[in-house]
Order: sequence, then structure tokens, then C-alpha cells
Amino acid sequence: MKSWLLAALLVGGSALAAEPVKFGDALNQKFQHPRCLQCHQFSSARHQGRAYNSHTARFLCDRCHSDNITGLPRGEWIAPAEKMDWTGLDARETCLLIKRNLPSGDSAEKMREHLLFDVRVRWALESGMTPGGRFPTVPGGYTEFARQAREWVAGGMRCE
Ligand code: HEC
Ligand code: HEC
Repeated sequence: MKSWLLAALLVGGSALAAEPVKFGDALNQKFQHPRCLQCHQFSSARHQGRAYNSHTARFLCDRCHSDNITGLPRGEWIAPAEKMDWTGLDARETCLLIKRNLPSGDSAEKMREHLLFDVRVRWALESGMTPGGRFPTVPGGYTEFARQAREWVAGGMRCE
């Protein structure tokens, strides 16, 4: 490429020379949304998750969060283990936590699969329906989240 053209591109299109995408650029804000957080802190005593307040007398989750309410296949409405609670963590810590807890295998592929295709993630982005009514979904919906997730994974899943 002619050097004057390259210079023009660099000056004119700073987006072209952008820094690699970090978790804190956009994704972390999505993770902090109550639709993600309420389920991820469900089993946390320290953060008064629902297992310790509204859900103290709980049975099988599907009895109330039935498939026709959630739109999820039966058995999929479940809360993660307490170690998957990112309440109060900053972007870098949340990023390290979710990378640490990935199932073994190709980590970029596992992360991409989860963020783009997990039915619970999808519920938080597009449904928000509970037995107590519909709660607000994550702003930007699936399209924006999927784009940000792809960019972050493609950039090497940087935490900082
Ligand atoms: C007896 C009925 C009932 C059962 C059983 C039940 N839930 Fe709920 N759940 C509700 C109701 C009603 C709400 C809405 C009110 C609220 O937010 O607490 C709710 C809300 C929630 C929320 C908050 C959703 C949000 O995005 O704010 C989560 C997370 C949740 N339930 C998880 C579970 C899990 C996990 C189980 C099984 C371990 C379960 N629930 C079992 C009735 C139930
Ligand atoms: C109904 C509860 C529920 C909701 C809502 C929910 N999750 Fe999860 N999440 C889970 C469960 C259960 C797991 C562990 C399941 C597994 O390992 O396959 C999990 C695992 C994860 C993981 C770990 C993946 C890994 O392997 O490290 C990430 C990242 C994640 N969720 C992100 C989110 C985001 C972002 C949202 C909101 C857009 C969200 N979750 C909404 C229940 C939920």
C-alpha cells in the first residue's frame, strides 16, 4: 500500500487502529445487569441471593419457572454455583472469574458458545419473564450483545 494512503487511513479512521477489545469496554456493563446478576447471585449468602431471601422455601425451579413462562426447555432454569457470583467485582475480576470457570477444551470456542447460545443468557437478553411477571431485559438485546461477545473473543478475551 502506498504510504500516503496508509497515513490517510490511520489519521482518518482511528477505529481501524483501535486497541484490542477488553472485557470492560462493553461486555462488563451487560454482565452487571440485574437479569444476569439476579440468577448468578442466587446461591450467594454473602450477597443475599434469592436462595436466602425470597426463595427460602424452594422446590424444583421448574414448578414455578415453567417452560411456558421462561421459554426454556425443562430443566434449564437453574442457578449457577456460588463461585459463579460476580456481584461487586470489577470488570477485570469478573473477566478472570468467568475464564477460570470455563469447562475444559478450546477456551475461546467454549466462551463463544456460551455467550452466543446459552438459553439462559438468551432469556436475559430477550425475555425476562418470571412467575412474578416480566422484568426488563438487558438493553441492546441479543444483536448488540452477540456482536460485543464476538469482538471480545476474537480479540483474545482480554481482561485488561
Ligand atoms: C414457589 C415458586 C418458585 C420457585 C419454586 C422458584 N421460583 Fe424463582 N421466582 C419466583 C417468583 C414469583 C419470582 C419473581 C419475584 C422475585 O423476583 O423474587 C422469581 C424470581 C426468580 C429470579 C429473579 C429473576 C430476575 O431476573 O430478577 C431468579 C434468578 C429465580 N427466581 C431463580 C429460581 C431458581 C434457580 C429456582 C430453583 C432453585 C427458583 N427460582 C424456584 C417463584 C419461584
Ligand atoms: C436462570 C439463571 C441464569 C441467568 C438468567 C443467567 N445465567 Fe449465566 N449461568 C447460569 C448457570 C446455571 C451457569 C452454569 C451452567 C454451565 O456451566 O453450563 C451459568 C454460567 C455462565 C457463565 C460461565 C461460562 C463459563 O463457562 O465460564 C457465564 C459467562 C454466564 N453464565 C454469563 C451470563 C450472562 C452474561 C447472563 C445475562 C445476559 C447470564 N449468564 C444469565 C445461569 C444463569
